[in-house]
Formats: sequence, structure tokens, C-alpha cells
Amino acid sequence: MNIESRKQEHIDLALSPQSQGPLTTLLEDVVLIHQALPEVSVDKLDLSVEFLGYKLGAPIIISGMTGGTEKAYEINRKLAEVAEEFRIAIGVGSQRAMINNPSLTRTYKVVREVAHSVPVISNIGFAQLKSLTFEHIETIVASIEANALAIHLNPAQELMQIEGDRDFEGIVNIIAELVQRLKVPIIVKEVGNGLSREVVEKLYSVGVKIFDVAGAGGTNWVKIELMRAEKAGKHLTLYGEPFVAWGIPTAAAVCEVRSVANDITVIGSGGIRTGLDVAKVIALGADIAGIAQPFLKAVIMGNAREFIQTLLNQLRASMVLVGARNIEELKTVPILIKGNLAYWICARKLVLRNKRAYIHCCSTT
Ligand SMILES: Cc1cc2nc3c(=O)[nH]c(=O)nc-3n(C[C@H](O)[C@H](O)[C@H](O)COP(=O)(O)O)c2cc1C
Repeated sequence: MNIESRKQEHIDLALSPQSQGPLTTLLEDVVLIHQALPEVSVDKLDLSVEFLGYKLGAPIIISGMTGGTEKAYEINRKLAEVAEEFRIAIGVGSQRAMINNPSLTRTYKVVREVAHSVPVISNIGFAQLKSLTFEHIETIVASIEANALAIHLNPAQELMQIEGDRDFEGIVNIIAELVQRLKVPIIVKEVGNGLSREVVEKLYSVGVKIFDVAGAGGTNWVKIELMRAEKAGKHLTLYGEPFVAWGIPTAAAVCEVRSVANDITVIGSGGIRTGLDVAKVIALGADIAGIAQPFLKAVIMGNAREFIQTLLNQLRASMVLVGARNIEELKTVPILIKGNLAYWICARKLVLRNKRAYIHCCSTT
């Protein structure tokens, strides 16, 4: 199957309810403590954050999803309109297709053309890095005047994909070289199985400073690839079934990544579905939240503006109810961490940024 048909299949399957879960984000174990005397005025709330040299209107990124087909051109154009209007950052999907076929460049470039005053993020898979030259990488970044390059680590997806890559050796060195040579920063992201402390330590030591956790609990690429295999009559399904619930839930991944260093920019993503989820990941340790599938769904349904307005109103309500006037204050509000997330943090001895996090089995202070 060629890349274009695969991209289309990914979009169609990602929209189905079966593409989500079955793990949860564990954000249900984060309790923001209600403050009945907030001393905050809704009209004066400041949702802005700095990211990649821009001032965003809200701490939100439309995570990289697509490009490379005519339908993807339209989706990217509509996503970019939302990003530009609400001054939020936006990523494109893997640009491998345009390296193979440069006539597809326009399906990505439309994002920069429409979203000209917000950060735009290039995208490539880690498994492809070995077969690409530095000039290829420079070209994909330049083609959309990107402000950063996201490298996605997706070993679980590749293993479950019929035509997926199987060789993951020697990639840290390539990333280290890119950090040195590329003019824009590198963002390392997962795609829904989460980043661990060990991975981040390795990459932080070679100079990567921005990580998108893309944890489990939202779009599930193991499941999507298994659905594709089943449709194609391949027998990957039985092999892949035990890995459907594989990965680090988003809330745990945020704590894993944040525990490595405070000067890391952490993007909390994977199953972020409401403005309350955005508030929770930020209070837990993220700087910004990333959202993919719900934006895709919203542009296809034609209600992207309503979706983001609801999301922002929910974020505002959450901030009022915890007494936070801006995003910096949201990072330090008291939170209670319970259940499996508390267990995870204690077992892994993770150090949290938020010193007012009360953890059921131990204390950070
Ligand atoms: C249709 C679709 C295509 C995607 N393609 C890419 C991609 O090319 N590169 C990438 O880094 N992530 C890709 N992702 C993963 C998202 O960026 C995100 O990490 C993941 O979907 C988890 O977020 P969510 O639960 O909000 O969907 C894609 C997601 C969707 C829904």
C-alpha cells in the first residue's frame, strides 16, 4: 500500500470510537482542589504562554496529524485557520510523503500560508531518520518555514504495522547531530504510548529540550494498525492483541518527563479532551497541552471553532475554580494525586515540579 492510501486509512480509522483507549490517561487521579473564594475575575484571566518565540493565546498545540493527500490539504487548511484565529501552535503530519513526492509539498505548506503568525512544527518519524540526509531534513523544515522539527518515536506502531520499520538502532546519535546542526529546535514526541524518564534522560543529555509526552489514554496507534491489518486479512491481529493496552498513561508520562529537569518544555498530550484536562496536565507539570484526534473530528464535522471555544471556556472555569489568574499560577495550585497515578509516581520516585502536590502514598515536600 502506498503512503497516500495509508494516510487516508489512518484518518478514517482514527475517527472511529474503537481507535481510543482502552487505557485511561490517569488524569482521573488528579484532583484540582476547589477554591470557593477564588479572588479571580473571568475577564482578567490570562491564558497566554510563550512558545518557540511566539506569544500564544492559550497553552494549546494542535498535534501533528496529516499531509500528503488532497483530503489532508483541506484538513490542514481548516486546522490552520483555527490555529491562526485562536493563536495556538500547530504541527503537520509526517513529511515523509513529500520527500518521496515533492509535488505533495503544498498539502503541508498550506499550514504555514494560513497560520502565518503562530508556531508551525515540522514532523518526521524516528525510524525514517537513518534513510534521510541532513538536506532532506532541512528541506522539510524550510518548506513550511517551521519553527521546530518534531521527531516522533513510534516503535509500538511500527511493530504492529504490516509495512512498518523494524530497525530502531543508532537513532540517538542522529538526533544528537540534528540538535547541533539544525537551525530550529527539536521536539521529541511519542504518538500515544508515552515517553519515559529513561528516554528523556538520554535525549536531554544530547541537547533536546522540548518533549511531547503523547501518552496512552487517547488515540491508540497499536489498535489502529491492528484494525488495518485485520481489514487487509493479515494475521498480525493475534500477535498484536496483548499490546493494545501497552504504554504510559498521559498523566504518568507528564510526571516521568518533568522529573528529568525543570528547564524542559513539556507538552502534555494523549487523550486530552476537555479544558479541564488541559488545566490538569499543566497543574501536574506540563507547560502546554497537545490535542490531535478531537481537532480532526471537529474540522471534519465543521465545528472546530465551537470545539476550541468550549475547550477554552472549560480551561477558564477550571482556572477560576482553583484561583489561578494565569498559566504560571496554574502550575502551582494545590492538587491531590490518588489511585494508580499516585502509585506510579511513588514507585518510580518521580520528583514533581508542583510542590503543592499532595500524593496519597508519599509527599513531595
Ligand atoms: C489521524 C492522525 C494522524 C497522525 N499522524 C501523526 C504523524 O504523522 N506524526 C506524529 O508525530 N503524530 C501523528 N499522530 C499522533 C498525534 O500527534 C498524537 O500524538 C496522538 O494522536 C495522541 O493525541 P490524541 O489522543 O489527542 O489524538 C496522528 C494522530 C492522528 C489522529
